[in-house]
Amino acid sequence: MNGANTEVPATPSHPIRVGVIGVGNMGQHHTRVLSRLKNVELVGVSDVNIELGLDTASKYRVRFFEDYHSLLDLVDAVCVAVPTRLHHSVGMSCLRAGVHVLIEKPIAANIVEAESLVNAAAESNCILQVGHIERFNPAFKELHNVLRTEEVLALEARRMSPYSDRANDVSVVLDLMIHDIDLLLELAGAPVAKLSASGSRSANSGYLDYVTATLGFANGVVATLTASKVTHRKIRSIAAHCRNSLTEADFLNNEILIHRQTTANTMTSYGQVLYRQDGLIEKVYTSNTEPLHAELEHFVNCVRGGEKPSVGGEQALKALRLASLIEQMALDGTAWHGEDLAATGIESTAIAV
Ligand SMILES: NC(=O)c1ccc[n+]([C@@H]2O[C@H](COP(=O)([O-])OP(=O)(O)OC[C@H]3O[C@@H](n4cnc5c(N)ncnc54)[C@H](O)[C@@H]3O)[C@@H](O)[C@H]2O)c1
Repeated sequence: MNGANTEVPATPSHPIRVGVIGVGNMGQHHTRVLSRLKNVELVGVSDVNIELGLDTASKYRVRFFEDYHSLLDLVDAVCVAVPTRLHHSVGMSCLRAGVHVLIEKPIAANIVEAESLVNAAAESNCILQVGHIERFNPAFKELHNVLRTEEVLALEARRMSPYSDRANDVSVVLDLMIHDIDLLLELAGAPVAKLSASGSRSANSGYLDYVTATLGFANGVVATLTASKVTHRKIRSIAAHCRNSLTEADFLNNEILIHRQTTANTMTSYGQVLYRQDGLIEKVYTSNTEPLHAELEHFVNCVRGGEKPSVGGEQALKALRLASLIEQMALDGTAWHGEDLAATGIESTAIAV
C-alpha cells in the first residue's frame, strides 16, 4: 500500500485526497465535481496534453502533473478518465501504488485487461469503482423502484447520438451500449439465456456505429438494446413493458412516465357521455441530483470505508463480458445460447421481476 493511504488516515477531519488523470471531456466534469465535494481535497490533475492540463489546474487552483505517476504519492484516490484503451495500464499503476481508483466505463478495452484490474484491486485491498454513471441517474433509481411492484415482460433500451469524433477507440457497444447492458442486468433479475445481435458501421469509422441486440432472460423477460453513434438526435431511454403498465424513463430529461390503460366515461345526469378517458399517465417525481455528483460522493464514501461500490470491478466485468459477446455477434453473426452464456458467468443480479 502507498504511504499516502496509511500515514494520514481519511477521517472526517482529514479530507480524502483525490487526483484526476485525463482531463478531456469526462475528466473535466470529474474535476469540476470533485472541486466542490465536501471532505475532499482535489490535489491535482494530470494529462499528457500539457496545455489542457495546465489550464484545468489553474482554473481549479490545483497542481498539474505531466506524468500521472508523480501524483500517486500525494493522493488516496484517483479518477481515471483517459481513453478506454489506456484504462488497463493507468489503472494497474494506480492500484499497484495502493491508490483507490474510480475508472471510467467500460472498465477496460477487453476481458483479460478487466480481469487483471479486478485482481489487482483485490490484491492491493483498494476500492475499484467503475463509472457506470447511469446507476446514479435519479431516473434510473426511480425506474428501479417502480418496477419492484410490476410484472415486467420486456425491456427496451435506446442510447443514440449524432456522430462525433470522441471515443472512437472502441465500438458503440463499449462506448454507449455498455451503460444499458449494466442497467438491464440489474433490472432483469435472471440469467441471460439467449442472445442475438447485429450492427452496421458508417463509412468513416473502423468500428461498429449502430448495434441492436436482443436478450432473452431465463425468467422469460426479453430485452432489446439499440446503441447508435449515427443518429441525428440524442436519445437515452429505457421502456419497461409490464403486464399492467408501460413505464418510460427518459435519462436526458430526468423524467419517468407510467402509462396505464383504463377506460372510464364521464356522463351527464341525463346519460350523455361528456368525455371518455382511454388511458392514464402518471409522472413520477425524480430528484435533480447530478448523477456524477452522486457517483463521486459514493466513491468517496467507499474510500472512507463506509460503503462497497455499487458498481465495482466484478459488476463492470460482467457487463463487459456481455458487451464483448454482443460485439462479436454483431460483427460475425454467431449465435449464442444458454450453455455458452452460462460458461461466460453472465447473470443479472438484482430484483426478481
Ligand atoms: N460515464 C460517461 O458517461 C462517459 C462519458 C464520456 C466518456 N466516458 C469515458 O471516459 C473516458 C475518456 O473519454 P473522453 O471522452 O473524456 O476522452 P477524451 O479524449 O476527451 O479525454 C481523454 C484525456 O486523457 C488524456 N490522456 C491520454 N493519455 C493520458 C495519460 N497517459 N495520462 C494522462 N492523461 C492522458 C488525453 O490527453 C485527454 O485529454 C473513456 O473511457 C470514455 O469511455 C464516460
